[in-house]
Amino acid sequence: MLTLIAPAKINLYLEIVGDRPDGFHELVMILQSIALSDRLTFDFSDSASHQLVCDHAELGDDPTQNLVYKAATLMAKVFPTAFSKYGGVTVHLEKNIPIAAGLAGGSADAAATLVGINLLWHLGLTQPELEELAAQLGSDIPFCVAGGTAIATGRGEKLDFIKNPPSLWVVLAKHRKLAVSTPWAYKTYRQQFGETYLNDPAQVRSRAARLHSGPLVNAITKGDRAELAAHLYNDLEKVVLPAHAQVQQLRDAFGTSGAIATMMSGSGPTVFGLCESELQAQEVKRVVAAQMHDPNLGFWITRLTSQGIHLAL
Ligand code: C5P
Repeated sequence: MLTLIAPAKINLYLEIVGDRPDGFHELVMILQSIALSDRLTFDFSDSASHQLVCDHAELGDDPTQNLVYKAATLMAKVFPTAFSKYGGVTVHLEKNIPIAAGLAGGSADAAATLVGINLLWHLGLTQPELEELAAQLGSDIPFCVAGGTAIATGRGEKLDFIKNPPSLWVVLAKHRKLAVSTPWAYKTYRQQFGETYLNDPAQVRSRAARLHSGPLVNAITKGDRAELAAHLYNDLEKVVLPAHAQVQQLRDAFGTSGAIATMMSGSGPTVFGLCESELQAQEVKRVVAAQMHDPNLGFWITRLTSQGIHLAL
């Protein structure tokens, strides 16, 4: 039996640079792990099937639709000898990361499942091998394996890990009853802004390569908090904020809260504010909560972290 910690992520940067033949979008992102984490315990199931145990009400009735289950099924398919030797796995999932929030909670759980089964079945897979399996399950999952700070290109699965930014606190806020579908966000972006990005594959590749040296990467490398704050960016805000007045209000509230920077994460609807200290984070939360006056608004205070999937102590 083993227990793994699976940290969430925020997007410090998300730019849609082009069209892809597979129907996905070519992205340039800067992904950053945060300490807010799920906790997953893995054990042998004493049968040939996998089991997911989770008491979170919003996860849906069908556990086989969960990415944890899909990750376990993929491992059984790719490693049939180990699967027949060890049998299925039982995964207990303690869900702390909000669902459908733009924080890669499901992706982190899937990454933890790959790492957990790698250990349980003594497969000895390397990080690149785990990342390759992860890419078959979803675009953000390869990043979640090692975590930290990375420039992600392609669908989001091609990773260049970079130096971690200076230590910062993060206030996250999300309307508990609001979920934004990632396919909807990208589809709407394509409908509204499809002419603003590239269609020629060669041009897409060369543009994506140039963006590696963007000002945000320089700010992170220099450890310059003010520069970092000035260069957060997310193209998906252009479709999610107009469609959800509550998220726009939240974004505005963070903008005047004293946080050093604010942005929506991924396809939302979570909005985050970056802060220099825990004290400042608590004050930002207090100011945003007072402005929003919404009992359905959830808050989480956490920090940037350099860790991806790791063993619980
Ligand atoms: O890869 P993942 O399953 O996380 O992607 C969820 C959805 O987000 C995709 O089905 C697609 O609609 C959209 N997406 C995209 N381009 C990307 C990543 C995701 O259009 N690079």
